Amino acid sequence: MVAHNPIIVALDMPTAQDAVRVAKEVAPHVGAFKIGVGLLYGPGPGTIDALVRLGLPVFADAKLHDIPSQVEMAARNLALHGARWVTAHIGGGQAMLEAAASGLADGAGHAEAGILGVSVLTSLDNADLQRIGIDRTPGQLVSKMASVAASSGCEGVVCSPLELHVVHQSAPNITTVVPGIRPTTVDDDQARTATPSDAIEKGASYLVIGRPITAADDPGGAAAAIFESLGII
Ligand code: C5P
Repeated sequence: MVAHNPIIVALDMPTAQDAVRVAKEVAPHVGAFKIGVGLLYGPGPGTIDALVRLGLPVFADAKLHDIPSQVEMAARNLALHGARWVTAHIGGGQAMLEAAASGLADGAGHAEAGILGVSVLTSLDNADLQRIGIDRTPGQLVSKMASVAASSGCEGVVCSPLELHVVHQSAPNITTVVPGIRPTTVDDDQARTATPSDAIEKGASYLVIGRPITAADDPGGAAAAIFESLGII
């Protein structure tokens, strides 16, 4: 039996061809592929179709945030391209998240597609939040956001590994998708990080891992080593 592989590789590559090439290299060692706004706004959503053809679920990290009718249309269209998950910012509010869930279900035509609510970007820390007038910690914000996501039809929440416990408290049954994963301590644009095994121990359902895999000399080897480090048999 193949063990559940919780690794979602973030294919933040410059071109769709690069994304598909790396996806093929890592496919045996990951559970799903993710593309973000860089590829969705460049080569476009056809990249989702190309990745779906490789046989793993595809996560369109579109980070939708607009009025409900626009978000509903966007989610439906991404589902028509084969997206298994689509992200929408929880900050867009309950009606927008419900519209996203409805559009996605309509486009997918089956129940196995879900909206993931984006809580607080893992690149932000307390000082960044204060600078934009938010006098709450990421934890306090994520706690409120997780309960809104749960009551708005979201399948899951995207959160930092450091806020997993808060999400589990306010939305106990929700799927948790965790970026900001670093196998070792590095100094880049992610502020709230954890190692892959720490995040799984803290209850993450899925890990979103980009550069530690895609920027490695051997992406397939890097993905295999990370999966092995999780101790999942
Ligand atoms: O390369 P790295 O592992 O930092 O990639 C993290 C991925 O997770 C990026 O694709 C980024 O867009 C995404 N992400 C994030 N923080 C969130 C939501 C998504 O870093 N809150």
